[in-house]
Amino acid sequence: MSEPDKRRSIRSFVRRESRITPAQQRALKELWPHYGIEAGEALLDFAAVFGRRAPVILEIGFGNGDALIAEAAAHPENNYIGIEVHRPGIGNLLRKIESSYLNNLRVMLADAKEVLTAQIPEASLSGARLFFPDPWPKQRHHKRRLVQPDFAALVTCKLVTGGYIHLATDCRDYAEHMASVLSCTPGLVEVSGRDQFTTMIASRGQTRFEQRGRKLGNQIWDLVFQRTS
Ligand SMILES: C[S@@+](CC[C@H](N)C(=O)[O-])C[C@H]1O[C@@H](n2cnc3c(N)ncnc32)[C@H](O)[C@@H]1O
Repeated sequence: MSEPDKRRSIRSFVRRESRITPAQQRALKELWPHYGIEAGEALLDFAAVFGRRAPVILEIGFGNGDALIAEAAAHPENNYIGIEVHRPGIGNLLRKIESSYLNNLRVMLADAKEVLTAQIPEASLSGARLFFPDPWPKQRHHKRRLVQPDFAALVTCKLVTGGYIHLATDCRDYAEHMASVLSCTPGLVEVSGRDQFTTMIASRGQTRFEQRGRKLGNQIWDLVFQRTS
Protein backbone atom coordinates (compact mmCIF):
# COMPACT_ATOMS: atom_id res chain seq x y z
CA MET A 1 0.00 0.00 0.00
CA SER A 2 1.65 3.22 -1.08
CA GLU A 3 1.36 6.47 0.88
CA PRO A 4 0.01 9.69 -0.64
CA ASP A 5 2.77 11.73 -2.26
CA LYS A 6 3.85 14.59 0.02
CA ARG A 7 5.60 16.78 -2.58
CA ARG A 8 2.82 19.20 -3.45
CA SER A 9 2.73 22.40 -1.43
CA ILE A 10 -0.95 23.32 -1.02
CA ARG A 11 -3.00 20.45 0.30
CA SER A 12 -6.67 20.22 1.22
CA PHE A 13 -5.67 18.11 4.22
CA VAL A 14 -3.12 17.85 7.00
CA ARG A 15 -1.94 14.32 7.63
CA ARG A 16 -2.48 13.66 11.32
CA GLU A 17 -1.09 10.40 12.58
CA SER A 18 -4.05 9.81 14.82
CA ARG A 19 -4.28 6.54 16.69
CA ILE A 20 -5.07 3.50 14.66
CA THR A 21 -6.74 0.64 16.49
CA PRO A 22 -5.40 -2.93 16.26
CA ALA A 23 -8.56 -3.92 14.37
CA GLN A 24 -8.02 -1.14 11.82
CA GLN A 25 -4.37 -2.12 11.52
CA ARG A 26 -5.33 -5.74 10.87
CA ALA A 27 -7.85 -4.64 8.26
CA LEU A 28 -5.22 -2.55 6.48
CA LYS A 29 -2.88 -5.54 6.37
CA GLU A 30 -5.30 -8.34 5.58
CA LEU A 31 -8.13 -6.71 3.65
CA TRP A 32 -6.23 -4.15 1.60
CA PRO A 33 -5.14 -6.81 -0.95
CA HIS A 34 -8.82 -7.60 -1.58
CA TYR A 35 -10.45 -4.17 -1.57
CA GLY A 36 -7.61 -1.65 -1.93
CA ILE A 37 -6.62 0.02 -5.19
CA GLU A 38 -3.02 1.22 -5.36
CA ALA A 39 -2.43 4.88 -6.16
CA GLY A 40 -0.22 5.29 -9.19
CA GLU A 41 0.07 6.67 -12.66
CA ALA A 42 -1.90 4.20 -14.79
CA LEU A 43 -5.55 4.73 -15.73
CA LEU A 44 -7.90 2.37 -13.88
CA ASP A 45 -9.81 -0.28 -15.78
CA PHE A 46 -13.05 -0.35 -13.76
CA ALA A 47 -14.31 -3.57 -15.36
CA ALA A 48 -11.11 -5.30 -14.24
CA VAL A 49 -11.15 -3.70 -10.78
CA PHE A 50 -14.72 -4.81 -10.02
CA GLY A 51 -14.97 -7.85 -12.28
CA ARG A 52 -18.04 -6.40 -13.95
CA ARG A 53 -19.34 -3.36 -15.81
CA ALA A 54 -21.63 -1.06 -13.79
CA PRO A 55 -21.96 2.68 -13.13
CA VAL A 56 -19.06 3.92 -11.02
CA ILE A 57 -19.55 6.47 -8.22
CA LEU A 58 -16.58 8.13 -6.53
CA GLU A 59 -16.70 9.39 -2.94
CA ILE A 60 -13.91 11.75 -1.94
CA GLY A 61 -12.87 12.13 1.72
CA PHE A 62 -15.28 9.56 3.16
CA GLY A 63 -13.99 9.97 6.74
CA ASN A 64 -15.02 6.89 8.75
CA GLY A 65 -16.96 5.61 5.72
CA ASP A 66 -20.31 4.86 7.38
CA ALA A 67 -22.34 6.82 4.80
CA LEU A 68 -20.41 5.22 1.94
CA ILE A 69 -20.99 1.70 3.27
CA ALA A 70 -24.72 2.41 3.58
CA GLU A 71 -24.82 3.81 0.05
CA ALA A 72 -22.95 0.85 -1.49
CA ALA A 73 -25.16 -1.62 0.39
CA ALA A 74 -28.33 0.16 -0.75
CA HIS A 75 -27.19 0.23 -4.41
CA PRO A 76 -25.68 -3.12 -5.39
CA GLU A 77 -26.27 -2.15 -9.03
CA ASN A 78 -23.47 0.46 -8.79
CA ASN A 79 -19.73 0.21 -8.21
CA TYR A 80 -18.19 2.58 -5.64
CA ILE A 81 -14.68 3.86 -5.05
CA GLY A 82 -13.86 5.71 -1.83
CA ILE A 83 -10.77 7.89 -1.58
CA GLU A 84 -9.36 9.03 1.76
CA VAL A 85 -5.98 10.11 3.13
CA HIS A 86 -6.72 9.15 6.73
CA ARG A 87 -5.48 5.62 7.49
CA PRO A 88 -7.81 4.88 10.45
CA GLY A 89 -10.77 5.76 8.21
CA ILE A 90 -9.47 3.40 5.53
CA GLY A 91 -9.06 0.63 8.14
CA ASN A 92 -12.57 1.26 9.41
CA LEU A 93 -14.08 1.12 5.94
CA LEU A 94 -12.21 -2.09 5.06
CA ARG A 95 -13.58 -3.79 8.16
CA LYS A 96 -17.10 -2.77 7.25
CA ILE A 97 -16.77 -3.90 3.64
CA GLU A 98 -15.81 -7.31 4.97
CA SER A 99 -18.53 -7.55 7.60
CA SER A 100 -21.17 -6.32 5.11
CA TYR A 101 -20.04 -8.78 2.39
CA LEU A 102 -19.89 -5.97 -0.16
CA ASN A 103 -18.43 -6.68 -3.59
CA ASN A 104 -19.14 -3.29 -5.10
CA LEU A 105 -16.84 -1.03 -3.04
CA ARG A 106 -13.09 -0.40 -3.37
CA VAL A 107 -10.80 1.94 -1.44
CA MET A 108 -7.87 4.21 -2.24
CA LEU A 109 -5.38 5.79 0.17
CA ALA A 110 -4.46 8.88 -1.80
CA ASP A 111 -5.02 12.54 -2.54
CA ALA A 112 -8.21 12.61 -4.60
CA LYS A 113 -6.86 15.33 -6.89
CA GLU A 114 -3.95 13.13 -7.87
CA VAL A 115 -6.17 10.11 -8.42
CA LEU A 116 -8.57 12.12 -10.56
CA THR A 117 -5.72 13.54 -12.60
CA ALA A 118 -3.80 10.32 -13.21
CA GLN A 119 -6.06 7.35 -12.72
CA ILE A 120 -9.69 8.14 -13.53
CA PRO A 121 -10.51 7.92 -17.25
CA GLU A 122 -12.37 10.80 -18.86
CA ALA A 123 -16.17 10.45 -19.04
CA SER A 124 -16.12 7.34 -16.84
CA LEU A 125 -17.91 8.31 -13.60
CA SER A 126 -21.66 8.32 -13.11
CA GLY A 127 -21.27 10.34 -9.94
CA ALA A 128 -18.80 12.11 -7.65
CA ARG A 129 -19.67 12.77 -4.02
CA LEU A 130 -17.88 15.13 -1.65
CA PHE A 131 -19.51 15.43 1.74
CA PHE A 132 -18.38 17.92 4.35
CA PRO A 133 -14.93 18.58 2.94
CA ASP A 134 -12.69 20.44 5.38
CA PRO A 135 -14.10 23.99 5.31
CA TRP A 136 -10.81 25.77 6.10
CA PRO A 137 -12.79 28.68 7.56
CA LYS A 138 -9.93 31.17 7.98
CA GLN A 139 -9.50 33.47 4.99
CA ARG A 140 -5.78 32.76 4.76
CA HIS A 141 -6.54 29.01 4.45
CA HIS A 142 -9.21 29.29 1.75
CA LYS A 143 -6.66 28.25 -0.87
CA ARG A 144 -6.64 24.82 0.81
CA ARG A 145 -10.30 24.23 0.08
CA LEU A 146 -10.73 21.31 -2.26
CA VAL A 147 -13.53 22.88 -4.30
CA GLN A 148 -11.79 25.34 -6.62
CA PRO A 149 -12.28 26.02 -10.34
CA ASP A 150 -9.52 23.59 -11.38
CA PHE A 151 -10.94 20.84 -9.18
CA ALA A 152 -14.47 21.39 -10.51
CA ALA A 153 -13.24 21.25 -14.12
CA LEU A 154 -11.25 18.11 -13.34
CA VAL A 155 -14.24 16.31 -11.82
CA THR A 156 -16.54 17.46 -14.63
CA CYS A 157 -14.38 15.97 -17.36
CA LYS A 158 -14.40 12.63 -15.53
CA LEU A 159 -18.20 12.49 -15.44
CA VAL A 160 -20.27 10.83 -18.13
CA THR A 161 -22.87 13.09 -19.74
CA GLY A 162 -25.73 13.08 -17.24
CA GLY A 163 -23.36 12.21 -14.38
CA TYR A 164 -23.64 14.23 -11.20
CA ILE A 165 -21.48 15.89 -8.58
CA HIS A 166 -23.05 16.06 -5.15
CA LEU A 167 -21.52 18.30 -2.49
CA ALA A 168 -22.63 18.91 1.09
CA THR A 169 -21.35 21.23 3.77
CA ASP A 170 -22.45 22.87 7.01
CA CYS A 171 -20.32 25.96 6.38
CA ARG A 172 -22.38 28.71 4.75
CA ASP A 173 -19.39 30.53 3.34
CA TYR A 174 -18.04 27.34 1.75
CA ALA A 175 -21.51 26.48 0.39
CA GLU A 176 -21.67 29.85 -1.35
CA HIS A 177 -18.15 29.38 -2.67
CA MET A 178 -19.04 25.88 -3.97
CA ALA A 179 -22.18 27.18 -5.69
CA SER A 180 -20.28 30.01 -7.29
CA VAL A 181 -17.45 27.74 -8.52
CA LEU A 182 -19.71 25.00 -9.88
CA SER A 183 -22.13 27.35 -11.57
CA CYS A 184 -19.19 28.89 -13.46
CA THR A 185 -17.86 25.48 -14.54
CA PRO A 186 -18.58 24.84 -18.24
CA GLY A 187 -20.75 21.78 -18.87
CA LEU A 188 -22.46 21.73 -15.46
CA VAL A 189 -26.00 22.74 -14.52
CA GLU A 190 -27.43 22.81 -11.03
CA VAL A 191 -30.05 20.10 -10.67
CA SER A 192 -32.02 21.92 -8.01
CA GLY A 193 -32.23 25.11 -10.06
CA ARG A 194 -29.87 27.99 -10.44
CA ASP A 195 -28.65 29.54 -7.18
CA GLN A 196 -30.76 27.29 -5.01
CA PHE A 197 -29.52 24.94 -2.36
CA THR A 198 -31.37 21.77 -1.59
CA THR A 199 -31.81 21.33 2.15
CA MET A 200 -31.54 17.55 1.99
CA ILE A 201 -31.07 15.03 -0.77
CA ALA A 202 -32.96 11.81 -0.22
CA SER A 203 -30.19 9.75 -1.75
CA ARG A 204 -27.63 10.62 0.91
CA GLY A 205 -27.24 9.10 4.35
CA GLN A 206 -25.95 11.23 7.22
CA THR A 207 -22.20 11.28 7.64
CA ARG A 208 -20.38 11.36 10.95
CA PHE A 209 -19.17 14.92 10.42
CA GLU A 210 -22.71 15.98 9.58
CA GLN A 211 -24.09 14.39 12.75
CA ARG A 212 -21.66 16.46 14.80
CA GLY A 213 -22.71 19.61 12.96
CA ARG A 214 -26.40 18.90 13.40
CA LYS A 215 -25.92 18.42 17.16
CA LEU A 216 -24.41 21.90 17.23
CA GLY A 217 -27.48 23.20 15.37
CA ASN A 218 -25.62 23.84 12.12
CA GLN A 219 -27.56 24.20 8.89
CA ILE A 220 -26.70 21.78 6.09
CA TRP A 221 -26.42 22.67 2.41
CA ASP A 222 -26.52 20.08 -0.36
CA LEU A 223 -25.66 21.01 -3.94
CA VAL A 224 -26.13 18.71 -6.91
CA PHE A 225 -24.86 19.59 -10.38
CA GLN A 226 -25.10 17.50 -13.51
CA ARG A 227 -22.88 17.26 -16.55
CA THR A 228 -24.83 18.23 -19.60
CA SER A 229 -22.23 18.04 -22.36
C1 LIG B 1 -14.27 17.05 7.50
S1 LIG B 1 -13.89 15.42 7.05
C2 LIG B 1 -15.46 14.78 6.49
C3 LIG B 1 -15.46 13.27 6.42
C4 LIG B 1 -16.77 12.64 5.94
N1 LIG B 1 -17.07 12.99 4.55
C5 LIG B 1 -17.91 13.04 6.83
O1 LIG B 1 -18.76 13.85 6.37
O2 LIG B 1 -17.98 12.55 7.96
C6 LIG B 1 -13.03 15.64 5.50
C7 LIG B 1 -12.28 14.39 5.07
O3 LIG B 1 -11.72 14.61 3.77
C8 LIG B 1 -10.44 13.99 3.72
N2 LIG B 1 -9.70 14.67 2.67
C9 LIG B 1 -9.34 15.98 2.64
N3 LIG B 1 -8.69 16.26 1.51
C10 LIG B 1 -8.65 15.10 0.79
C11 LIG B 1 -8.10 14.76 -0.47
N4 LIG B 1 -7.47 15.67 -1.22
N5 LIG B 1 -8.22 13.49 -0.90
C12 LIG B 1 -8.86 12.57 -0.14
N6 LIG B 1 -9.40 12.83 1.06
C13 LIG B 1 -9.30 14.09 1.52
C14 LIG B 1 -9.89 14.18 5.13
O4 LIG B 1 -8.90 13.23 5.45
C15 LIG B 1 -11.13 14.01 5.99
O5 LIG B 1 -11.31 12.67 6.42
